[in-house]
Amino acid sequence: MTADQPGQTAPDTLSREEAATEIASLRVEVDRHDRLYHAEAAPEISDSAYDALFRRLQALEAAHPSLATPDSPTQRVGADPLESLPNVEHVVPMLSLDSAHEIDAVRRFDERMRKALEDDEIRYVLEPKLDGASLELVYVDGVLGRAVTRGNGRVGEGVTENVRTIPSVPLRLREDTLPAPALLSVRGEAIMYLGDFENLNQRRIEAGEPPYQNPRNATSGALRQLDSRVTAQRPLTVLAYDVMAVEGADFATDSEGLAALKAWGLRTPDRIEVVGSVEAIEEYHRGFDADRESLDYEIDGVVVKLDALEPRERMGSTSHHPRWAIAYKFEPRKEVTRIDRIFVSVGRTGVLTPVALLRPVEVGGVTVSRASLHNREELERKDVREGDQVRVQRAGDVIPQVVERIEEGGRERGDPFVMPDACPSCGTEPIEKGPFTVCPNHFACRAQLRGRITHFGSRNALDIEGLGSETAALLVDEGLVEELADIFDLTEEDLVPLEGFAEVSARNLVAAIGERRTVELARLLVGLGIPEVGVTVAADLAAHFRSVDAIREAAPEEMEEIHGVGTKMSAAVRGFLDEPRVSEALDRLMAKGIEPTSPSVREGKPDGAEGESMGPESDWVGKRVVLTGALETFSRSELKDTLQRLGARVTGSVSSRTDYVVVGANPGSKLARARELDVAVLDEDELRERLGADAATR
Ligand code: IVH
Repeated sequence: MTADQPGQTAPDTLSREEAATEIASLRVEVDRHDRLYHAEAAPEISDSAYDALFRRLQALEAAHPSLATPDSPTQRVGADPLESLPNVEHVVPMLSLDSAHEIDAVRRFDERMRKALEDDEIRYVLEPKLDGASLELVYVDGVLGRAVTRGNGRVGEGVTENVRTIPSVPLRLREDTLPAPALLSVRGEAIMYLGDFENLNQRRIEAGEPPYQNPRNATSGALRQLDSRVTAQRPLTVLAYDVMAVEGADFATDSEGLAALKAWGLRTPDRIEVVGSVEAIEEYHRGFDADRESLDYEIDGVVVKLDALEPRERMGSTSHHPRWAIAYKFEPRKEVTRIDRIFVSVGRTGVLTPVALLRPVEVGGVTVSRASLHNREELERKDVREGDQVRVQRAGDVIPQVVERIEEGGRERGDPFVMPDACPSCGTEPIEKGPFTVCPNHFACRAQLRGRITHFGSRNALDIEGLGSETAALLVDEGLVEELADIFDLTEEDLVPLEGFAEVSARNLVAAIGERRTVELARLLVGLGIPEVGVTVAADLAAHFRSVDAIREAAPEEMEEIHGVGTKMSAAVRGFLDEPRVSEALDRLMAKGIEPTSPSVREGKPDGAEGESMGPESDWVGKRVVLTGALETFSRSELKDTLQRLGARVTGSVSSRTDYVVVGANPGSKLARARELDVAVLDEDELRERLGADAATR
């Protein structure tokens, strides 16, 4: 136990009530010093005085475990390690940004905005585009409830324990100037300041550990630790820049949202500006670009976002990006080096990619020693050869590229590089597909096989439990599987000696594979990894042709009878199936006794667009409804479901086509807009009356 300071009562002799009072005041004090130290760089007490406060709080919580809460500053030191990071769905999808590399693209963006808004008083919020790892933080009633990495945009990894250790992330929102909302989902970027990054690497080198390549890798590595005590040792900072969802507060502009984030104690990016013209955007971009090398954090452009929120909702998003924002990128950094050698690498789908091995050169803080030359045509177009001097660039995430050859008068050049006439992995003669050179030995070429097996067993395909990428790699590396069909011959005895396997797991995997001999045709088609055939097309092909043989015999025109299948797709499918090696591999696979089942009735499209049963009596069919403000007697998500079930469309923004705006407490700009447009406004009671028995009350 921690030694008590003179004059302090031993924690375990305090009553629960006394402990609660002291804990509450210590938390306020520790939080305040945390903020002064980390957010304001203006500490008021010495480190040892801070440590004493912190330890006292820890001791009190340890002696009175029922008083420990997740928002206590003591929770920042990390918790017990997890076995794996859970998958967590975002409150709203985390989209990415469309990018512009030239001012003309920004100009076109601005024109689109002005046209859509018919408003010459346009305002844009400008921010640095931070090069870190993007995160969602969710606060419920002001308390940090969870933190989730971006992942695929819809689902990310739950990293709550880790994020709790980051000093710039408030565990509880400040409320001294603004009350905390009932729900806040905020997006931000976890970054590592360059000085912190260098210190971290220095420590790693001293400890005999490999240094990180760049702050972004170090950041995402730190965020995804299973042991949050490790994360607590890493110098992370989170800067918040986007209110993704809020209930119980309403903003008319992004700048208001950013001000609120600040008021709630979150840290926001530096140098945020609000401007009204492309010229001002250009100037901001130029200014940041010029200062880029002297900043103490990495950025790769500036973000331009429409300030007004109501038009944002009206403009909406594509499936990938919002239409109301754009990332105006900086020119990628380029450096000059020499190509030592060119070799060919074989990817998961069989594409042979020429790769240049370079004299190592530092490009924007990262040492680059190889760069993709993409494909045969690119290689010819750039005419780069072994020994040539070249300019290379690295743009954000993108793999380094050879931009161009630098002419050197008087130097004798090597021979042009020619693509090999045998796959470097399996020796099969490659075929040319447009600019690409492809190894057609799709199911047996070792370079492709691991990926093929993993894909075959993946969730949308045969969904074979226990057949993940690590196992697939083992099976291939140990020579147990030489082509895809071999997985059906695996025995328990084959698997038991493998690392990570015991009798039970071996038996389970063999059984799981065996069971999938009976499998829905659509899943089998997905699993084969036919080019262009994803889940939707596979379902369509299965419903139309109903057997593997029928598909293998189908003429392209027949495939094109399916809605959504065009000539490009049918040619890709046909080309794949006609490849003799593919065809032989399929024969061998089917000979393992696979029995695909096909659906008896043609199923509707998954989005249910054809209409569900919604009862003809519902008045709500086709009505457009907007919910705004903090609903007190309804759960927002259940209400949304109810309305949708009744046939209404719940939309995000008020327009003249909106039928009803449902208002809760503090409604803000949407209510104003509804009044302006003379749209019917319902409060919660009026809504309940109209809903009758269907109301989804909290
Ligand atoms: S706004 C809907 N602002 O850049 C997107 N994004 O593809 C709203 N990023 O991973 C994002 N700095 O997380 C915004 N100041 C900033 C940003 C920023 C970095 C990230 C974003 C995403 C990527 C864009």
